[in-house]
Amino acid sequence: APTTTDTANASDASEKLITVGFAQIGAESDWRNANTTSMKSTLTKENGFNLIFKDAQQKQENQIQAVKDFISQGVDIIVLAPITETGWDDVLNEAKSAGIPVILVDRMVKVSDESLYSCWLGSNFEKEGVTAANWLTDYLKTQGKDKEKQNIVVLQGTIGSTAEVGRTKGFDDTIKKSSNLTILEEQTGEFTQAKGQEVMESYLKKYKDIDIVVSQNDNMSFGAIDALKAAGKKPGKDVIIVSFDAVKAAFLSMIDGDLNASVECNPLHGPKVAELIKKIKNGETVDKVQYIDESVYSTDNAEAELPNRQY
Ligand code: AHR
Repeated sequence: APTTTDTANASDASEKLITVGFAQIGAESDWRNANTTSMKSTLTKENGFNLIFKDAQQKQENQIQAVKDFISQGVDIIVLAPITETGWDDVLNEAKSAGIPVILVDRMVKVSDESLYSCWLGSNFEKEGVTAANWLTDYLKTQGKDKEKQNIVVLQGTIGSTAEVGRTKGFDDTIKKSSNLTILEEQTGEFTQAKGQEVMESYLKKYKDIDIVVSQNDNMSFGAIDALKAAGKKPGKDVIIVSFDAVKAAFLSMIDGDLNASVECNPLHGPKVAELIKKIKNGETVDKVQYIDESVYSTDNAEAELPNRQY
């Protein structure tokens, strides 16, 4: 069952506070923890909210149960970060029948009826994949390697999550234009450091000629870096590593020269979610899709940017 890590019950909430049930995915990465902190530090009593937070421990059934619990508690609004895109129709229909609006954050859902949620706020994951591929091809040019054959292995995130689907599509479609680049294999590392390391170890046993690792989040990159070092390779030099998220630890890794680049994925959703909740509760219309601004960082600008990182 999902764990309750924070909060009051909907029933204790003062009349004036907006009771929000937030079904978070888990605590699988630095990004996720920064996202949770942003939501918890914004949806506070001082700001007019009574937050009920559930950590689903990376399991869709726990998230579905959390949403059902929020419905029976009679929350004012539900915020859901869906782990994967499919499987949400039934529970979102239950929320709709109960008259409880749902805001989706971070990842998207594939549902038959778009009116099952009020709006979505998150990253343009496909664009992030394109950015990673463009960074890589530009970098290979600066290294005089744009004509040399380069072998890539990919550590994917949770299969079927918008972050995995978008980053895979954006990256794969873009590198198809470069005939020197070959993807040897794509496998999931579940967005965790431990699994990223495990999959990288198996890649290193299987392939002797890996030139590039594309890792769909920083925590898996840290696992891959450990696996490469244990195999006697120099990450960032013998093997180029392109990552996603751009969390603080990734900046330190770029400054050390282990990680070559990280495409930013912004987890600071709290303030925008608070604004959306208030608008929806006031009956105002909001844009259905809201993208958050993002950039790309590399060994060239990591040191200068580090002091600005909040997470
Ligand atoms: O959905 C966003 C992704 O989920 C982040 O890239 C990753 O770190 C997290 O676990």
